[in-house]
Amino acid sequence: MVVGGGAREHTLVWKLAQSPRVDKVFAAPGNAGTASIGQNLNIAPTDIEELGKAAKQQDIDLVVVGPEAPLASGIVDYLDSLNIPAFGPTKAATQIESSKVFARNLMEKHGIPCPKGAIFSSHHEAHEYIKQQKPPIVIKADGLAAGKGAIIAESQEEAQKKLSDIMEAKIFGSAGDKVLIDEYVIGKEVSLLAFTDGKTVVPMVPACDYKRIGDNDQGPNTGGIGGYGPPGFFSAELADRATNAILLPAVKAMAEEGIPYKGVLYAGLMLTDREILTLEFNARFGDPESQVTLPLLKTDLVDILMAVAEGNLDQLKIQWSDDACVGVVMASGGYPGSYKTGFPIEGLDKAEKDVLIFHAGTRLGNDGTIYTSGGRVLTMVGVGKNIAEAREKVYANLPDIYFEGCYYRKDIALREIA
Ligand code: GLY
Repeated sequence: MVVGGGAREHTLVWKLAQSPRVDKVFAAPGNAGTASIGQNLNIAPTDIEELGKAAKQQDIDLVVVGPEAPLASGIVDYLDSLNIPAFGPTKAATQIESSKVFARNLMEKHGIPCPKGAIFSSHHEAHEYIKQQKPPIVIKADGLAAGKGAIIAESQEEAQKKLSDIMEAKIFGSAGDKVLIDEYVIGKEVSLLAFTDGKTVVPMVPACDYKRIGDNDQGPNTGGIGGYGPPGFFSAELADRATNAILLPAVKAMAEEGIPYKGVLYAGLMLTDREILTLEFNARFGDPESQVTLPLLKTDLVDILMAVAEGNLDQLKIQWSDDACVGVVMASGGYPGSYKTGFPIEGLDKAEKDVLIFHAGTRLGNDGTIYTSGGRVLTMVGVGKNIAEAREKVYANLPDIYFEGCYYRKDIALREIA
């Protein structure tokens, strides 16, 4: 059973269903894409007790958790108490994502490279500190804020206002009880995710994601509007360096702190002209990173997940294809602001012949038509021998799909070939 209903979860369901070890895949709540492969269960990802009940009823052998919220609420601990195997870190280990303060303290204590910054639980002290900083100023809410908790303020005034929003007006609720105020670092961002059983760390293909809604990184942040992998600027040698300096030490640090970490560890990295810094850790698969990396995985995903669960990841050779993927998110017009849903999606069959289509905000109507039901509707992924070929495929097929108000960026992965 895959928990979640986005394109990341559709990708996981698609990949898991390819395993000869899998008879049936459930998704909770899933979307129209997962319904075409397996069975959807109408349970919210945060309804941990209902998920446990359903897992027992359906005799599910393995639960794979997509989003951070159920992990942070302790879904893995709860399922474990019911003797239901679950892939993902425990509630305590998820702190590496659910508390930026926890992650920063861990990095500083264990010498994991990260930006310089300061932690505040008093808004008075944070306001005073900001006065001494030169913009841009990076402010991060401590807790989970649906990917919107990191703010880059371009001026003192903006920084003071954003700090008040987070710590006083509590726009992110208790996630803003503490903040991290960081130096602004310039470089290229890359996501390096790894499977880990708490001892062995096996990195995946690196990937890049695009967060801003508009071309050339203009406009507000989204939950992720496109991505590609592997990036040409992040060589295998750099990936090795990041694994040895960041991912492995983080897993070792968690074990030393008495909080063993198992699952996927996601490092959000910044490649500056001097070093690789850790901007954040996440405790799960990425979205849209999963859509542009898992299609390149040659090893059976179930074998990997079981090796993580059983603690023998060192026994498995994980193989990836040398191809590349480019993924473009097709969104509802207006997203990430307000948008309308309920529009029929046309042209899926045609495009599916040439590209992969992972659903997010889609719903299967009683009439068999697939309708839009969210802000991010589909991720279309082109797979090719290189980024240029993958990109060409996806942009050639995007016009085949139509729904009212459909929006997508035109420049995903363009910087890799321009
Ligand atoms: N790609 C951003 C995330 O998964 O959090």
